Amino acid sequence: MSTLSSRLSEAQALVSSRRKSPPRVGVVLGSGLGAFGDTLSHLTKIPYIDIPHMPRSAVVGHAGNLCLGEIDGVSVACLQGRVHAYEGHDADTVTFGVRLLARLGVGAVLLTNAAGGIDASFAAGELMLICDHLNLTGKNPLIGPNDDALGPRFPDMSTAYDPALRAAAHAAARRAGITLREGVYAGLMGPTYETPAEVRMLRTLGADAVGMSTVPEVIALRHLGVRAGAVSCITNLAAGISPAPLDHSEVEATAKRTRDAFVALLTGWIVETARALG
Ligand code: HPA
Repeated sequence: MSTLSSRLSEAQALVSSRRKSPPRVGVVLGSGLGAFGDTLSHLTKIPYIDIPHMPRSAVVGHAGNLCLGEIDGVSVACLQGRVHAYEGHDADTVTFGVRLLARLGVGAVLLTNAAGGIDASFAAGELMLICDHLNLTGKNPLIGPNDDALGPRFPDMSTAYDPALRAAAHAAARRAGITLREGVYAGLMGPTYETPAEVRMLRTLGADAVGMSTVPEVIALRHLGVRAGAVSCITNLAAGISPAPLDHSEVEATAKRTRDAFVALLTGWIVETARALG
C-alpha cells in the first residue's frame, strides 16, 4: 500500500506536467458554485479522472475537475467538486483534494459549502463566514500514525479559520455590497439531514449553521500549516426551524439563486487573500 505522501507526489506530478506555474490561492467549490471554475482566465482544466488517486463525487452538482487559472491576475487552483465522508470515503480520501492543493504550493485555501441555518436570524440565501467549527463527525483525518514531515501530531486549532482571511472576506463583502454573516459551523456526518431535536442540541452547543463537509478539509490544511477560510451558503433553515421538510433540490435551488452574490464575494476574497499573503 502506497503512503499518502507518495500518492500526493504522483498526483502533483500529473498536475505539474499540465501546468508549470504554481497557484497562490486554492478554492474548494461546493454545491452550486462549480461553474466558477470555468470562469478563470488562462484556464487549464484537469478532470479528476486524469489525476492519480484523486477521488470523484457522485453527488449531483459536484463536477470533478481541477481548474487552474487566474482571477484578476491571481493564480488559483479550484477543486470543482469534492467528495464527502457520507459517500463512504475514508478521511484520507475526503481530504486528498485539499492536500493536493497544499502540495501545489498554495498559501491559503478558501472553501465554500451549503449549510442549514440554525441562528434564528438567518434567512435562506444568506452567506455566512465560518469563524470556528464543531467537529461532530466522530472522525478526524489525522487519526493514525503521524507523518512528522507533513505536520505536528497535535495541531493547534485555536485560529483554524485564519483571522487575516476572515478580515479579507469582510473587506471583499463590503466592497461588493454583500451582507456577510459570521458564525460557527457544525460539521456532521450526514447523509440524513438533522432531526429537530438535533438542531436544538446544535444550537445549545453554539452552532449557527450545520453541514456535511469542510471540517475534515480544514483540519487537514491546519495540519499542513496552510491557512484556511470558509463561507457557507445558507441554503435552507435547519430542520424544525422551517415547517417544510428538507430536500436536496431546495439546497440546489437556493445555491443557484445565490450564485451571483457568492461568485462576487469569492472573486473579491481571492484578490484580498492574495494581498493578505503578501
Ligand atoms: N443540514 C446539513 N447539511 C446541509 C443542510 C442542512 O440543513 N443544508 C445544506 N447542507
